[in-house]
Amino acid sequence: MPNPLLELRQIEKSYAGVRALRGVSFDLQPGEVHALLGENGAGKSTLVKVITGAVEPDAGAIVLGDRAFARLTPAGALALGIACIYQQPALFPELSVAENLALRLEPASGLRRIDWKSRRATAAGLLARIGAPIPPDAAVRTLSMPEQQLVEIACALGAGARIVIMDEPTAALTQREQELLFKVIAELRADGVGIIYISHRLDEIFRLADRVTVLRDGESVGTCAAHAIDEAGLIKLMVGREVSQIYPPGPAHAGAPVLTLSGVGCTASGVRGVSLEIRAGEVLGLSGLVGAGRTELAHILFGLTPADAGTIAGATGPVAIRSPQDALALGIAYVPEDRRRHGVILEMPIAHNVTLAIHRRIFPRGFLRDRTERDLTLEYMRQLSVKAAGPEAKGGSLSGGNQQKVALARWLATKPRLLILDEPTQGIDVGAKSEIHRLIRQLTAEGIAVLLISSDLPEVLGMSDRIAVMRGGTLVATLPGGTNAHTVMAAALGKGEAA
Ligand SMILES: Nc1ncnc2c1ncn2[C@@H]1O[C@H](COP(=O)(O)OP(=O)(O)OP(=O)(O)O)[C@@H](O)[C@H]1O
Ligand SMILES: [Mg+2]
Repeated sequence: MPNPLLELRQIEKSYAGVRALRGVSFDLQPGEVHALLGENGAGKSTLVKVITGAVEPDAGAIVLGDRAFARLTPAGALALGIACIYQQPALFPELSVAENLALRLEPASGLRRIDWKSRRATAAGLLARIGAPIPPDAAVRTLSMPEQQLVEIACALGAGARIVIMDEPTAALTQREQELLFKVIAELRADGVGIIYISHRLDEIFRLADRVTVLRDGESVGTCAAHAIDEAGLIKLMVGREVSQIYPPGPAHAGAPVLTLSGVGCTASGVRGVSLEIRAGEVLGLSGLVGAGRTELAHILFGLTPADAGTIAGATGPVAIRSPQDALALGIAYVPEDRRRHGVILEMPIAHNVTLAIHRRIFPRGFLRDRTERDLTLEYMRQLSVKAAGPEAKGGSLSGGNQQKVALARWLATKPRLLILDEPTQGIDVGAKSEIHRLIRQLTAEGIAVLLISSDLPEVLGMSDRIAVMRGGTLVATLPGGTNAHTVMAAALGKGEAA
């Protein structure tokens, strides 16, 4: 093997009592995609932060070429050719792509004349190198998040990055954007760049990775060639046990409708003519491509963008849902997709985060019942296997996936009549995913209706009693559970037999 681009030796890192990394060793070769896998809280992001200089390790060495470091600084890491592509790119929205690239790549130039022509050419060249169809003159604010990620990658290349790290880059990407990213990864790899790739989607790992390293509880439990292991083997390494990939069975029949939509639409969000019943005790899957109007429909039902056409009826008659307060009063809860940004209050302990939406109920007349709050939180932490020091730990001390579980717990605690889940298992590891599926079934057994929005087709197929398919802002099919993937996709794409 050639000399590695990067080698980590026996890295240790603890945060106030939590041993996040325990003697982790790792190496990255030129031109390889090395996937980093592990359950939520296993230490993946911490390892990345050690490499980018965002976190100082307690012990161990970071070896780059023939130099060994006890720690890196962010500026030092950048200068050594290490770049990290974040989910939320840090670009200046009002400036153009070329200007953003120039700011990143040109040293502070004092009074030097700005050469606009060469700036533009540099930007165009870098974008062309990764095959990104983005005009250099476009203002960054007009670009989608994934396009901004591509600009970040262009920046990384322009800065001469030899090591590019991607921590769950595809979580918010559409299919097409994902394909573009994979193409860019292939180009980088061909150029001899080493890529560290983190994802909970195992199919991506098998498509992209040359090698995989699995972390469990802060320890590396193995590194191997991706072709030398299969999905079941990887899961076993990550979780330490076999995980049933079988979806739990649903009820024999659903109950009365909890919500009936007739011709519901909203001009502002482009939803129109949706007629649909959501019944007690059922999982109604909501399928469709990104942009089909699924989240927009959820926003109507939760009163975020109220309907301006059609009628909505509850169990006993017509209802008006003009605000989230109205929705909550009707027993409708909504777990949004973007839990990373809107889910968890970082400064607040987990326990307060969990009870935020039911504060009035468990603290009547302002009377503090810490025990109730603590017990309730511990119960949800157990059910969702939240990895944390305890209910008092701050939201901000949790790993990304564990923050998502806390956001989910908050809405579960409201004991809603209708629970709307938008991409509930995105960013969640395989073990916890099957626990969430079991929990959903437990809720429906108690008579709660669940509207499940998910881009994970096997999840929709496996969990749903019925599947509603949207396309272009409206409902195009309602299919029975047990429908096959082909039929659902055909309806979502508008091809063939939309029932
Ligand atoms: N700032 C912090 N303060 C305290 N503990 C922290 C902090 N950041 C991370 N941890 C803890 O370190 C451990 C590893 O977290 P890390 O974010 O590296 O996990 P991860 O593998 O990236 O998980 P995920 O898949 O959920 O993103 C977790 O137990 C987490 O709670
Ligand atoms: Mg992480």
